[in-house]
Amino acid sequence: MKILVIYHSFEGSTKLIAETIAKVTNADILELKTKEELVKTHGFMKYFWGGRSVVFKDKPELLALEKNPTDYDLIFIGTPVWAFTFTPPLRSLLAQEILNNKKIAIFCTHEGGPGKTLENMKNEFVGNEIVSEMDFKNVKKNPDENIEKATEWAKQLFSKMA
Ligand SMILES: Cc1cc2nc3c(=O)[nH]c(=O)nc-3n(C[C@H](O)[C@H](O)[C@H](O)COP(=O)(O)O)c2cc1C
Repeated sequence: MKILVIYHSFEGSTKLIAETIAKVTNADILELKTKEELVKTHGFMKYFWGGRSVVFKDKPELLALEKNPTDYDLIFIGTPVWAFTFTPPLRSLLAQEILNNKKIAIFCTHEGGPGKTLENMKNEFVGNEIVSEMDFKNVKKNPDENIEKATEWAKQLFSKMA
């Protein structure tokens, strides 16, 4: 079974979870990177600019994808939560309309307010089968606990799908 982990990460938490999943399932990994920096600050104003880009449903231009999702049987897709939903690079990915008839496992990282992130993702990834979902809270504060949670989740899903 060929597995791909697609993710966007602004400050590393989602990247850590994505890399954990990829390691456990022996998957390829694809980071969604924008051509231009999505949010130019890591200070308090990141919430303003990031939140604004979510509210305006921005679709920032992505760098060319280094993996082709159509080549894979199972795809994990992960995002940080911004303004209670998924981040703009995922909207850009969706606009490429390359995900169809795929088994998809969705995940998000947040700090206690996941909002409707996973529900919104499910509504957007129509035409695919969402096989599992998971959220990870305070990854930066509790990395070990979250690595363990990601490992267990990925392992269980892997053995279920194999
Ligand atoms: C613009 C912005 C908006 C955010 N909005 C939320 C939110 O609505 N709920 C929440 O729990 N955390 C929110 N956060 C925190 C992030 O979701 C959390 O730190 C996440 O794990 C970061 O992932 P990353 O390190 O992969 O970028 C926000 C962070 C940013 C930068």
